Amino acid sequence: MTTAPLPAAPWWRPHPGRTLAIRGGTPLVGTYPISGAKNAVLPLMVSALLTPHLVTLHNVPATLDVAVLASLLQGLGCEMNWSPTSAGLSLTISADKVRPRSVDPDLVTRMRASVLLLGALLARCGEARLPLPGGDAIGLRGIDFHIAGLRAMGATVDLEAGVIHATAPHGLRGAEILLPMPSVGATENLLLAAVLARGTTIIRNAALEPEIADLALCLTGMGARIGGIGSHILTIEGGLPLAGTIHAVLPDRIEFGTLACATAITDGELFLAHSRIDLLGAASASFAAAGVDLSEMDGGVMARRAKGSLNGIDVTTGPYPEFATDLQAPVMALLTRARGASAITETIFEHRFHHVGELRKMGANISVMGRTALVRGVDRLDGAAVTCTDIRAAAALVVAALGGTGKTTLDGLDHLDRGYDNMQEKLAACGANVVRSDTDR
Ligand code: EPU
Repeated sequence: MTTAPLPAAPWWRPHPGRTLAIRGGTPLVGTYPISGAKNAVLPLMVSALLTPHLVTLHNVPATLDVAVLASLLQGLGCEMNWSPTSAGLSLTISADKVRPRSVDPDLVTRMRASVLLLGALLARCGEARLPLPGGDAIGLRGIDFHIAGLRAMGATVDLEAGVIHATAPHGLRGAEILLPMPSVGATENLLLAAVLARGTTIIRNAALEPEIADLALCLTGMGARIGGIGSHILTIEGGLPLAGTIHAVLPDRIEFGTLACATAITDGELFLAHSRIDLLGAASASFAAAGVDLSEMDGGVMARRAKGSLNGIDVTTGPYPEFATDLQAPVMALLTRARGASAITETIFEHRFHHVGELRKMGANISVMGRTALVRGVDRLDGAAVTCTDIRAAAALVVAALGGTGKTTLDGLDHLDRGYDNMQEKLAACGANVVRSDTDR
């Protein structure tokens, strides 16, 4: 993946340096500001396609995925206006002149969320042409639920040579859709399409992730009528013209959980500003059982290791409010240093254990049988040269490196840049010894 400049996001500068060197063993102390959620901001940006009026988003995280999506939206005719604020970036999108043009396949294949353009473009323009989306190589990641839902709403969808062509020349119509599983992306795509479709759409078995409620709230701010927000049944009275809106992006629960792991493994004490424990769902009980103390305070959460050592725990990922698959890797890194054994079962994605081999290079004792990883806690992790293979694998390696002894060098940093807003700078401000450079390992 290239990190060439992306003109639609002038604040984005490819970070200098191919490797991140982390010298572990220093407790993280101070305040770490949690940014707006990567997986909330992407659908929110796409929602701007649904109206000719201005949509302003506050608390936008400065990540590579945001920059890539901004470029995709600009390619479709949107104007993007950015302003830096003390609480993250603000972005105003004007989709007054949006057209269903072909989009740059290189940008689409950089991330999964590009598939959301399908529902929004179809609803607004009656047509969308999009290469199949990319994203982390963590499983098959089909889009059959998205396509079946759009077809139920009257769209014609064809796939030829890796390009999806969807049309609805007379507009979409409301439909009753039962999702085979509560897919986050399919719920978002169909919600985006349904608010402009004529009539009522009911999405059953909708995903419950907080990022979906955030999207629904933004859409209601634009004038959409959505019932059942926060439940498994969303009822959308579609077809109303949508106005502009101003919306602040939800805090990133995965960045929050990742930093809770980093705090505990370094035996530090961090105030995770803007975070909220309720966003963690079942993971908050897992943190407590593992010996990570989280206490809600004014404006954020204080994280520290509970008295004594960390404890091994069993974790099974699942749809929200079950334990988030996106926290599986960083929590595994934490548990490599816990007393006793932990069984970690991944149920959402088929191939989400790429970090295991890298953690083993640092001395972790992990064996994998099918979808379960058995982690036996070790007394120390040693520095090693490791490679980030996906966003959350990268986060796991950062956690392990911070809690390790000696120097760990990470490459494959695009993955980190995709999902984490200025992680290196934020960690350094809390006392971590992190240096990004082009120096060979
Ligand atoms: N699935 C299908 N067909 C579909 C849609 C999904 O088979 O049409 C399967 C997937 O293959 C997967 C499961 O259903 O096995 C769940 O997928 P889901 O659609 O819920 O996930 P997603 O929308 O592709 C989002 C996040 C992921 C996060 C998952 C689960 C974004 C951009 N991505 O993916 O985030 O892990 O939900 O919570 O919101 C990450 O941030 O690192 C990341 C991978």
